[in-house]
Amino acid sequence: MFAEPREKPKEIVVLGAGVVGLTTAVLIQEKANYNVTIVADVLPTDPHNIRYTSHWAGAIHVFNDITNQLHRELERGTFYKLWEMSEPDAPTEQYFLRPDQTEHWYEKRREDDQLRNMPNYKPLASDALYPKAVEGATFTGLTIDTERYLHYLQSRFLAAGGSMVRGFVQHINEVIEGGASNFSSVRAANTTLAMGGKVTSPPDAVIVCTGLGSRSLGGVEDSNMYPIRGQTVVVRAPWVNFSRNVTRYEPEITYIIPRRSGDIVVGGSREDNDWYPVPRFKTSREILELGLAVCPELAPPEVRAVREPTVEDVLPLIVEEGCGLRPERKGGVRLEVEWFTRRSDNVKVPVVHNYGHGGYGFMMSWASAENAVRLLEGALSPTEAPKMLKAKL
Ligand SMILES: Cc1cc2nc3c(=O)[nH]c(=O)nc-3n(C[C@H](O)[C@H](O)[C@H](O)COP(=O)(O)OP(=O)(O)OC[C@H]3O[C@@H](n4cnc5c(N)ncnc54)[C@H](O)[C@@H]3O)c2cc1C
Ligand SMILES: *[C@@H]1O[C@H](CO)[C@@H](O)[C@H](O)[C@H]1NC(C)=O
Ligand SMILES: *[C@@H]1O[C@H](CO)[C@@H](O)[C@H](O)[C@H]1NC(C)=O
Ligand SMILES: *[C@@H]1O[C@H](CO)[C@@H](O)[C@H](O)[C@H]1NC(C)=O
Ligand SMILES: *[C@@H]1O[C@H](CO)[C@@H](O)[C@H](O)[C@H]1NC(C)=O
Ligand SMILES: *[C@@H]1O[C@H](CO)[C@@H](O)[C@H](O)[C@H]1NC(C)=O
Repeated sequence: MFAEPREKPKEIVVLGAGVVGLTTAVLIQEKANYNVTIVADVLPTDPHNIRYTSHWAGAIHVFNDITNQLHRELERGTFYKLWEMSEPDAPTEQYFLRPDQTEHWYEKRREDDQLRNMPNYKPLASDALYPKAVEGATFTGLTIDTERYLHYLQSRFLAAGGSMVRGFVQHINEVIEGGASNFSSVRAANTTLAMGGKVTSPPDAVIVCTGLGSRSLGGVEDSNMYPIRGQTVVVRAPWVNFSRNVTRYEPEITYIIPRRSGDIVVGGSREDNDWYPVPRFKTSREILELGLAVCPELAPPEVRAVREPTVEDVLPLIVEEGCGLRPERKGGVRLEVEWFTRRSDNVKVPVVHNYGHGGYGFMMSWASAENAVRLLEGALSPTEAPKMLKAKL
């Protein structure tokens, strides 16, 4: 018997190279018969900036105290995956840390709080609570070394045969008609006539993982998207190996997130509809003051041995100060298929939306990507009539 001729792979364009786009692109590329190209304005190896939120995440996995069923599922599904990746001796263990984590809450959490499933979960005794806190717990947490983890996702995607192109997409129709080719250097110097019309390769589907960019991306223009600005200070303090998250007063949250590298993320602010792109001096100062109050261990051990530490003792340890815009969406994450008609041949092309992860893109990344892949495969299956599809719970 002859082997079946190999199918021509389906061409998929993923817009966006943040944690959501990379994870989605990895899952699709690693399946048989797909060829994925990422088109993104900012890439994971670029200097950190305001148009790429993933560099600014803590990042930690915590179950939120919420009623949104889709989010609960996305958090749970992703937790199992990240927990597996962070197993001692797993090849990916190096991107994670499993610190002891303590949280103090100023409001009671729900009865069905998923956080109770965290390994080694124990409620805090009332005499161990911070003043005014009503509840608290300790458990084994999970933190992600965001920079290295993003590079890992990018390498895994490229090694599986994926491609990446830098480009700013003004309207989704650009890629629906021309695929990624419009953004390659060959295209720039060639005309359709000289190339006999061969320069563009229309994709079979497009996946939108443009985070906050989905607010202005032409054809998507999702007015439910808005930023929640978050400022942090990263210090090098490898002697801190535990995680503390103290909800002081809404919407301020003080957290201490240790990374495998020995860096500690001290945060942070939550500022709705605030687009200011660089750190504010006053906020950085407040973050360090609150951080030190919650965690005096931030100061070097030799200082603490002789006196009470002050913010001045922490300043020399600063590695980075920055801020990111959490891609928040009224109504929650958008996971659904929308059909666009391609102008050149009138073909209906499925566009899978996977954006709007707010402050939780890392901890919802894998399950969101799995949902997006399911939607993609449904939309591309020959029996599926073009219609709106939504994420399944
Ligand atoms: C201070 C802070 C702390 C956080 N802590 C955590 C945490 O502990 N845990 C957690 O899970 N999450 C955390 N987050 C949230 C997390 O960072 C985001 O949810 C996540 O990074 C969103 O990823 P994304 O891929 O959707 O967007 P992004 O990382 O912003 O990526 C968007 C991509 O789309 C591209 N793009 C957008 N528009 C266009 C366009 N028109 N054309 C071409 N390309 C385009 C961009 O260039 C970029 O590549 C935190 C965020 C902040 C700011
Ligand atoms: C995948 O797409 C890239 C460009 O986006 C192209 O160069 C490559 O030849 C394609 N691979 C296959 C197997 O079709
Ligand atoms: C943190 O460090 C302390 C002291 O070195 C050690 O006893 C403890 O086991 C460490 N905890 C974790 C979770 O690594
Ligand atoms: C797409 O290609 C056209 C023609 O080469 C070029 O003028 C245009 O700038 C390209 N668009 C982008 C966003 O690069
Ligand atoms: C135009 O495209 C062809 C085919 O990809 C390539 O060989 C040629 O070098 C391109 N021309 C320029 C000026 O880049
Ligand atoms: C801290 O805890 C609050 C309340 O549980 C939660 O909303 C927030 O996401 C947590 N943040 C971090 C960084 O752990």
